[in-house]
Amino acid sequence: PVDERVADLLWRLTLEEKAGQLTQFFYLSVGELPDDFDLESVPEEQRVYAEQPKMVEAAAAGGGTGSVLFAKDAATTNRLQRLAVEQSRHGIPLLFGFDVIHGLRTVFPVPIALAASWCERTIEQTQAAAAREARAVGIHWTFAPMVDVARDPRWGRVLEGAGEDPFLGAAVAAAQVRGFQGDLGPDRILSGPKHLVGYGAARGGRDYDDVDISDSELWNVYLPPFRAAIEAGARNVMSAYMDFNGVPASANRELLTDTLRGELGFDGFVVSDASAVRSLETQHFAKDLTDAAARAVSAGLDMEMCMFDPAFSRLPQAVAEGKVSEEAIDQAVRRVLTAKFELGLFENPYADEDAAAPTLDAVERRELAKTAAERSMVLLKNEGGLLPLATDALQAVAVIGQLADSKRDTLGPWVFDHRTEETVTVLEALRDRLDDGVRIKHAPGAGIPRRVFPSMFDRMDPTVVDTAADHDDDTEIDRAVQLAASADVAVVVVGQRQNQIGENASTATLELSGRQLEQLQRITETGTPVVLVVMSGRPLDLRWADEHVPAIVQAWYPGTRGGAAVASILLGDASPAGRLPFSWPRHVGQLPLIYSHYRTFQPENQAARYFEEESTPLYPFGHGLSYATFEYSNVRLDRPVVGLGDTAMVSVDVRNTSDRDADEVVQLYIHQRYGSSSRPIRELKGFERVTIAEGETRTVSFELGPDHLRYWSAATKGYVQDETTLDIWVGGSSVAELTTVLEVTTS
Ligand code: IFM
Repeated sequence: PVDERVADLLWRLTLEEKAGQLTQFFYLSVGELPDDFDLESVPEEQRVYAEQPKMVEAAAAGGGTGSVLFAKDAATTNRLQRLAVEQSRHGIPLLFGFDVIHGLRTVFPVPIALAASWCERTIEQTQAAAAREARAVGIHWTFAPMVDVARDPRWGRVLEGAGEDPFLGAAVAAAQVRGFQGDLGPDRILSGPKHLVGYGAARGGRDYDDVDISDSELWNVYLPPFRAAIEAGARNVMSAYMDFNGVPASANRELLTDTLRGELGFDGFVVSDASAVRSLETQHFAKDLTDAAARAVSAGLDMEMCMFDPAFSRLPQAVAEGKVSEEAIDQAVRRVLTAKFELGLFENPYADEDAAAPTLDAVERRELAKTAAERSMVLLKNEGGLLPLATDALQAVAVIGQLADSKRDTLGPWVFDHRTEETVTVLEALRDRLDDGVRIKHAPGAGIPRRVFPSMFDRMDPTVVDTAADHDDDTEIDRAVQLAASADVAVVVVGQRQNQIGENASTATLELSGRQLEQLQRITETGTPVVLVVMSGRPLDLRWADEHVPAIVQAWYPGTRGGAAVASILLGDASPAGRLPFSWPRHVGQLPLIYSHYRTFQPENQAARYFEEESTPLYPFGHGLSYATFEYSNVRLDRPVVGLGDTAMVSVDVRNTSDRDADEVVQLYIHQRYGSSSRPIRELKGFERVTIAEGETRTVSFELGPDHLRYWSAATKGYVQDETTLDIWVGGSSVAELTTVLEVTTS
């Protein structure tokens, strides 16, 4: 049994070796350096990157590390593993972690896009495929899914989550864990939901800023996706950087022990975010690094992720000074060793280098990438049925925009092992898909500046280029406008570069950067019909476009086959059925903006509380159009009254009134009219993505029981289910109108 094997190993380890097992190093490999390379000649920052791998190799051989992140090919993982298994005193294998966020070599749409598919099966399949690719090269563990509920898209990491809603977030989190981890077989990897907890609530959307979250918000909004991920079997959790109600999350015992283990029943291991233990000192919480290490372990943190000089190397000293108990350290080591045994690493520490390459090439994974991208796209507007494009009449299509032919941006952030030659852009796909009779011309048009401070990842990725650097905007925009004027239709791709979003990429504005809006306005003035394709991971300010452009598709960062998926949607090979996982604001000044807000003292005036802007979103949560049309009718309950703890069934008939088969996302919302606490005006409590054939009527049913109706009340300081009256709405978005009423009684 695993417990016995762990205990047997644990008692042989010195305190230093235990600290080693609890240490995880980045492996910042910059490739081989020539022997005569003069390190002093490069800037200090790069010198550090050049020296760091040697330090990790020595730690692996000397038992100074239990885990490594960022080794991404079989030769590297095996080389490091051999050092640990063959040279360290106990031969304990390394656990290799990596940010496999939306694929490794095959890149799937970014997580917010997967969430927009509202399709748990697709989400599970893509993450299972990603796990397979990762495991093949020796990666055992992903720092995913990010399950932070995010309600302020100024925050750059909004694209890594599932949006604003805890119910959708919980379903998406569980699907991802099932995909990555499944039964933890030989082609699965450990899944680590992150970042516990509230990281998405950073003040002003500024990454890493502190959060102050009430118990009610914590239990009703931020924790449900973690609970769902843990119930789906997640074996790891990552703690967050920021101060949580005044105590950094990575040394917060209430979160890491009382809540996570006590309330949520988690029994895996907790890793810190990168350098978060050292940061306890930087954040002026810990006195020094010894204090930081002791307080983190005492709070329930098991492993420190770091680049250099781990705070955890001071754990023996902390024990000697009585700052942390050896038992707390042993407990953490037990959890880490258990994960290694569960993965079978002691029996099979190495990746199969010969098998890895062909496994990664699989055509069906690229097909899945295309299907997932098609399923994630959201048709925001389609006036006059401009889409799908009527190809018979097409002679010339202008494809405008830098993002229309940028492989790197099509993939999105958090990709590290892609092959540019395998990536398909919108331009390439349209050329490929439309026959010779149609002329397709491209103008890159307005430059899109990259962000001012390149991230560590940008510096490591040679395919990230600043195409705006020497850009002659005046000439390029003129060219784009001329091209559009001479075409039958202009496909204008706007948005943000992949490095204008992500970690440490908060924004103070949602406006299209550079001169993209001015270019769009001039193209529209030519009279050529415009299809706007938006490539972004957050909502952008589309007020002008919504008023003047007939068709708008939210394409996200769609991945390896993203361009092909955009072409399928534009040309009608697939009908769009993605739905917004967040409320799309009109203006940055509305943020944060959510559909599940509370009724106010003046409910009749809720839509008009800014004097110069509406307070409703431009597009509501759950919104998305289709090429088909659906009619909802006959919403009904299997009983009009239920007792507390009982379950009612809500059913609705959905008829496809068009002449094409298509998917529809049927959504159910509730509102509780009175109870222990006031409740949001609407809350999502059920959804199902269904395919409905032309002319067919499908009956979709949802359960509504105590799991859906209980909530955490500040009045009782615990979960309650109230005797109450519930309004229920069923339809195709959060503004669905078809409604019924359910009474919940005590008898
Ligand atoms: O996994 C990430 C985390 O989400 C943010 N900081 C860096 C980690 C490792 O790359």
